[in-house]
Amino acid sequence: MRYNYFMEKKCLFSEKKVQIGVDSGCDNYIMAIESSCDETACAIVKNGTEVIANVVASQIKTHEKFGGVIPEIAAREHMDAINIVIDEAFKQSGLMPNEITAFAGTVGPGLVGCLLVGLNAAKTLALVHDKPFIGVNHLNAHLCANYIDTDLKPPFIALLISGGHTQIIDVESYSKQTILGETIDDAVGEAYDKVARLIGLPYPGGPKLDKLAQIGNPNAYELPISRVDGYNFSFSGLKTAVLRLVKRLKEENGNGSLTEKQVNDVCASFQECVSKTLAKKLKKALQEKGYKQVVIAGGVAANSEIRRKIFDFEKDGYKVYAPIMKYCTDNASMVASCAYFNTNTYDDVDVEVFSRV
Ligand code: KG4
Ligand code: ZN
Repeated sequence: MRYNYFMEKKCLFSEKKVQIGVDSGCDNYIMAIESSCDETACAIVKNGTEVIANVVASQIKTHEKFGGVIPEIAAREHMDAINIVIDEAFKQSGLMPNEITAFAGTVGPGLVGCLLVGLNAAKTLALVHDKPFIGVNHLNAHLCANYIDTDLKPPFIALLISGGHTQIIDVESYSKQTILGETIDDAVGEAYDKVARLIGLPYPGGPKLDKLAQIGNPNAYELPISRVDGYNFSFSGLKTAVLRLVKRLKEENGNGSLTEKQVNDVCASFQECVSKTLAKKLKKALQEKGYKQVVIAGGVAANSEIRRKIFDFEKDGYKVYAPIMKYCTDNASMVASCAYFNTNTYDDVDVEVFSRV
């Protein structure tokens, strides 16, 4: 069915109406801000797909020494970085504030103190320049990263895998999404970070574990694949199995540590188990819904083996979409794209941040 697809948003002072979306009939330039965790990001995206500016200030160096994100410190760093990333995005784009169609910001889920910094900046920009404000859900934004530089259109099945979420979603249209299944305990990214920590890898563990897994043997150790009904997942049993395995290997070695080969093999075996589980359930959802398109999204979608297994679906006639690396992990381009495509946004300037879904 072909239908006119755009949303009408009001400028905050003049209440002038602005059309945003695929059929709005004019070019939309959305500036978005993302600050839900440890990245302060600002971007400008044209018509939801063309990135005009993309700036990310990462706090990894700060949190590395603590082995994880410290919310209070993260919020303060967002305060220091926010004006710099906004200025830089304007500079990269060559646009003036009055040329921006609307200002968007992440509302949640995320760390409340961190979200407040970015969201208030987006609201302020919209108020000062008399433009519409669009509040965006961080998870929807991750999905929308797949619209950047592609011609993807719903319907499709999405696998959303991040530090806080693991979901299989039926995206029927830009506005209608149904969660088919999700994790009943740890998120995939969380499991990666916890396993990385227990084998002694520094924060952020996921990407480092992925690197070592690529040189290890994925069949070295047999790890349990969780048996959870339907499209739900469970990763806490796997995490405990790795903990037991590492303990046993250390005892056998007699020196309280693992050899380099053992570390690589544990990483590869864990990665094999996770990627197999995700690919299996995703394939089942595709078959059941009869869709021919599948997307992966979220920080863990940067994972080499998960990408490889899911891109393998193309051999069976599916079209697979995955954002390029810089749009997998937290960024503001995906937030701008979401503000353009997704109708499930928050337009009220009084919208409050939230920490969990
Ligand atoms: O989406 P994201 O940037 O932030 C959240 O919204 O959670 O995801 C961060 C998560 C972290 O757990 C990180 O370890 C994981 O994504 N991650 C990876 C890889 N790159 C990032 N996990 C496995 N393999 C990777 N290559
Ligand atoms: Zn994220």
